[in-house]
Amino acid sequence: MTALPHSYKDPLLTLQDVSMSFGSEVILRDLNVQVLDVIRPGVCQGQVVGIYGRSGIGKSVLCRLLAGLAAPSTGTVRVGEAQQPVQAGAVGYVQQRYPLFNHLTLLDNLLLAARRKHAPPRPRPAPTPT
Ligand SMILES: Nc1ncnc2c1ncn2[C@@H]1O[C@H](COP(=O)(O)OP(=O)(O)O)[C@@H](O)[C@H]1O
Ligand SMILES: [Mg+2]
Repeated sequence: MTALPHSYKDPLLTLQDVSMSFGSEVILRDLNVQVLDVIRPGVCQGQVVGIYGRSGIGKSVLCRLLAGLAAPSTGTVRVGEAQQPVQAGAVGYVQQRYPLFNHLTLLDNLLLAARRKHAPPRPRPAPTPT
């Protein structure tokens, strides 16, 4: 099988001088990384990028930074074609131990989250007479 020709285009993800510490403990130091869009003519192309390392090295901390769920101690995480600083909600993230309700199916868990997000505001309780 012959590989289709490909080229690299615009950045999709950029980490610039990213470090993360908790108190005096430095977990990530000076990460400078870029993931570029991969283009193959006539093909709708995605890509999979892996992060590996021993347990406790900071993979999950890094994922939270990439998803905008935590801010790095220093540096910037930029995502998307516009390369804007990441904000919570801009990048999907499924945690290793994701908080699902065990008594519901995966679909019911997703529907529950969607209903909660789009539910009309709850009526405020009437003030109690004093
Ligand atoms: N909220 C936090 N506060 C303090 N330390 C943390 C916090 N989150 C992660 N850590 C520490 O950061 C280090 C990396 O953790 P983690 O990213 O979960 O590792 P990995 O996913 O690579 O196994 C660990 O030493 C962990 O104890
Ligand atoms: Mg982890």
